[in-house]
Amino acid sequence: MSTSPSLLHLASAVLLLLLSSAAATDHIVGANKGWNPGINYTLWANNQTFYVGDLISFRYQKTQYNVFRVNKTGYDNCTTEGATGNWSSGKDFIPLDKAKRYYFICGTGGCFNGMKVSVLVHALPPPPRSAVAAEHSAKDSSAPPAAPGGGGRGVFGIVFGVIVSVWFGYGWI
Ligand SMILES: *[C@@H]1O[C@H](CO)[C@@H](O)[C@H](O)[C@H]1NC(C)=O
Ligand SMILES: *[C@@H]1O[C@H](CO)[C@@H](O)[C@H](O)[C@H]1NC(C)=O
Ligand SMILES: *[C@@H]1O[C@H](CO)[C@@H](O)[C@H](O)[C@H]1NC(C)=O
Ligand SMILES: *[C@@H]1O[C@H](CO)[C@@H](O)[C@H](O)[C@H]1NC(C)=O
Ligand SMILES: *[C@@H]1O[C@H](CO)[C@@H](O)[C@H](O)[C@H]1NC(C)=O
Repeated sequence: MSTSPSLLHLASAVLLLLLSSAAATDHIVGANKGWNPGINYTLWANNQTFYVGDLISFRYQKTQYNVFRVNKTGYDNCTTEGATGNWSSGKDFIPLDKAKRYYFICGTGGCFNGMKVSVLVHALPPPPRSAVAAEHSAKDSSAPPAAPGGGGRGVFGIVFGVIVSVWFGYGWI
């Protein structure tokens, strides 16, 4: 063996780190409607897949609204007691760094008019099928587009697979 395993290990770790940060998705709450009253954010959230390392971002009039990260009680009852974070810049990027359910509400009363969103964040790595799906939809224009947030993940899975096979391959040489 000419390549030092620790060097290879380090290179793999650096590559994985770069790839995982490059693949992070920014989920803009409400898409082009932003963070405003009268929008069903459950429908918005059901249309996305959230992974650890992604961002959720809120765009709104900072003179009128804000964002609180609360627990389920806060979400259900529109209360901010025990909130674990609050933002008010009008353009807030919040990291989703754990595989769990997050709850965000507006703390200025907008919560009572629908300004609440709950997202379930999944652990990485996701199944590599999104790359296959993306390839198929590129060739077949009648296929539905890949789910938002799914792009780039498949590359991660493929490269991860290559690294793992190279890594174990060295053991057999
Ligand atoms: C939002 O949509 C979901 C799914 O259709 C529905 O269950 C829920 O009642 C709606 N919420 C509001 C406030 O209309
Ligand atoms: C769901 O996502 C699709 C594709 O991005 C989009 O066309 C559609 O409007 C979205 N629906 C909702 C309710 O956000
Ligand atoms: C939340 O509201 C429900 C009724 O909507 C009430 O039964 C419950 O006690 C409230 N929880 C808290 C912690 O205030
Ligand atoms: C949410 O936080 C409040 C205030 O700290 C607490 O009273 C309540 O029990 C919590 N609810 C849940 C579901 O953890
Ligand atoms: C908002 O967050 C800051 C820390 O970032 C905290 O000091 C403050 O008490 C929070 N405000 C409310 C209303 O919870």
